[in-house]
Order: sequence, then C-alpha cells, then structure tokens
Amino acid sequence: MKILLTGGAGYIGSHTAVELSSMGYDVVIADNFSNSNPIVLEKLEKITGKCFPLYKIDVADKAALRRVFEENEIEAVIHFAGYKAVGESVKVPLSYYRSNIDTTLSLIEIMEEFGCKNLVFSSSATVYGKRASLPYSEEMETGPCTNPYGWTKLFIEQIITDYAKANPDFSAVILRYFNPVGAHKSGLIGEDPNGIPNNLVPYISRVAVGNLPYLNVFGNDYPTADGTGVRDYIHVTDLAKGHVAAIDFAAKNSGTEIFNLGTGNGISVLEMVKAYEKACGHEIPYRIAPRREGDIAFCFANAKKAFEILGWKTEFSVDEMCRDSWNWQSKNPDGYK
Ligand code: UD1
Repeated sequence: MKILLTGGAGYIGSHTAVELSSMGYDVVIADNFSNSNPIVLEKLEKITGKCFPLYKIDVADKAALRRVFEENEIEAVIHFAGYKAVGESVKVPLSYYRSNIDTTLSLIEIMEEFGCKNLVFSSSATVYGKRASLPYSEEMETGPCTNPYGWTKLFIEQIITDYAKANPDFSAVILRYFNPVGAHKSGLIGEDPNGIPNNLVPYISRVAVGNLPYLNVFGNDYPTADGTGVRDYIHVTDLAKGHVAAIDFAAKNSGTEIFNLGTGNGISVLEMVKAYEKACGHEIPYRIAPRREGDIAFCFANAKKAFEILGWKTEFSVDEMCRDSWNWQSKNPDGYK
C-alpha cells in the first residue's frame, strides 16, 4: 500500500515514515521544506535502507499535487503539512487560515479526482475548549480555541467530517496529538525548531547542550502538585506508531473517527527538568518566570479509545523520552544545520 505523507520531512512526518516503512508500507513524501530540511531524506535512507520518492511542492498547489497522484498509485494520505507555531499564528492569522485550510482543501479535491479514499489528519489537543474537563476525551465539546493555529485544526476537522459524511465510502481518521517529544533512537532524526524554541523539551535540550543559558519556567503558582504546568508528553516514536494503526483502521472502515494520541499521564515542568537532568547527566539551570499568556494548568488525555479500537498504546516512559531527545540534541547540537 502506497501512502503519501504531506509534510513528510517534518518532525512527526519523518518519524512516521520510518514506522510505516518498517511495517512494509511504501512511502511518498511531499514537502516544501518551509519548516524542515531536505537532509532528512538522507537520514531516512540511512535508517530504513529505502529511498522515498520526494516531491518538493506546496500541497496547496493543485497542479503540482496532481502530478504526485499521476505518478504514484496513492491509496492513503497522512496530512501533516501545515503551519504550527501558536504565537506566530496570533501575529499573522490570515496566513495561518489561508495556508492550513487551502492545503487541506486542495488535498481532498485531488484525492477525490483520483478516487483516493483514506485520510489521516494531524490534529491537536488544542481543539479541546477551556470548558472541557480532564482527562480530555474525544466525545467532549471542542473550542473555543485560544489562538488561530488551534482554530485551523478545528476548522479542518469539521471540513473533513463534513466531506466524509457526504461521501460515505470515504474514511477519515483525525488524530489529536498531546505533546510530542523525543527522537528516533538512532539520533539521526529529531526535532529541529527554527530559532529559539517555544516548546518546553526543545528549549530544555538547548539549555542542556549549552546553546541557551537557562530555562524560564512559566509560572509556579498553578494549582498543580509543584505549581508548574502539567502536560501529557508522548514519545514521537509512539506517536508515529499511532499513525500506522490509524492507517490500518482507515483502510478497513469508512466515516470519520477521532482518536487522542497521548499517554494519559500528566508530567509537570519541574518533573520534566529532573528527568532531563538524569538523561544528560548535569544540572539544567532554570528561573521561575511569569505565567505565559494562554497557558492552562493541566492538559492530559483519556487514551482509552485508541487502545480499545486501534489496539495502540504508548510504550516509552518520560525517562526514555528525555534519553532519546538528549541523544539527538547531543549528536546534533545545531540540529540539521
Ligand atoms: C503547545 C500548543 C499545542 C501544540 C504544542 C506543540 C497551545 C495551548 N498549546 O502546547 O497546540 O500542539 O505546543 O508541542 O497552544 N514551558 C515553560 N518554559 C518554556 C516552554 C514551556 O515553562 O520555555 C511550560 C509551559 O508553560 C507548559 C509546558 O511547559 O506548562 C508545555 O509547554 P509547550 O511545550 O509550549 O506545550 P503546550 O503549551 O502544552
């Protein structure tokens, strides 16, 4: 079965390419490298021994995307491509709405042209509204989102759901990611954010490797055990395996199904700092800073549905997430550069 990964050179896309390939799927990658590096393809070849067909295209460009489908018999698509920086989305909302939604519309239109009926979409736990109670379950009310990035995820979920309803033989799986961290065990691929990282673990990694002096802990007065924010961190390899399970499920079903991909466990910022210190073998300097606007105290998944229906569950512990993150960061202090 041949699967197209839009945004397949990115952090989650590249790890998913590895897992799909190890399960015998053929992978085709489309990426415009706006937030990824072409060198990832060489690394993927080293890990898998396979050379994946690559299309350097913008997925919103229908003519370019049509060529991918003409040249490959694509049976399913995993749609990762999209802008994903929360803060940036607040500053340039139109470009987020234009790009993320256009890309999805073009993709589904071309899938329809070629009779491709299986779609897996990268959504996010950010679609759960502030009113939702913990742990977050798939059937809970969504929105209102706190930023345009989150709204694009929610709007795209709606577009896909409506399309699947109107086309009963179409199969869509929406995956709501919690906080992906870690890297492939080889240390060849990992997370490489542009500039100063916004997310916790990439920031800690840069402090650990000596590129940044200390971590700012955004608030220690939340109603959590140690006062710092609690999140559901998931190893990117576990997350990637969740996509393999989703593809198997999509191929055998129709309609839209939504799954959380998380561990179900909440870890605080300070617990993460301690786990990372163990992994890298030295102290991570930090300072308590004011709360970051838009942050919440707790966010973690009810991960039962994915286990019951997909037979998928996470395997990696927080210590293993930090070990693999450090393995990648220490071998590649400047990321892919
Ligand atoms: C954010 C986004 C989510 C996105 C995810 C990517 C929201 C509400 N959440 O999640 O949509 O999918 O990034 O992984 O928009 N922290 C610090 N210091 C730092 C960085 C973070 O203390 O330098 C704390 C935060 O306050 C939070 C925790 O670490 O408590 C995790 O933050 P982060 O990694 O940015 O992820 P989220 O905000 O949960």
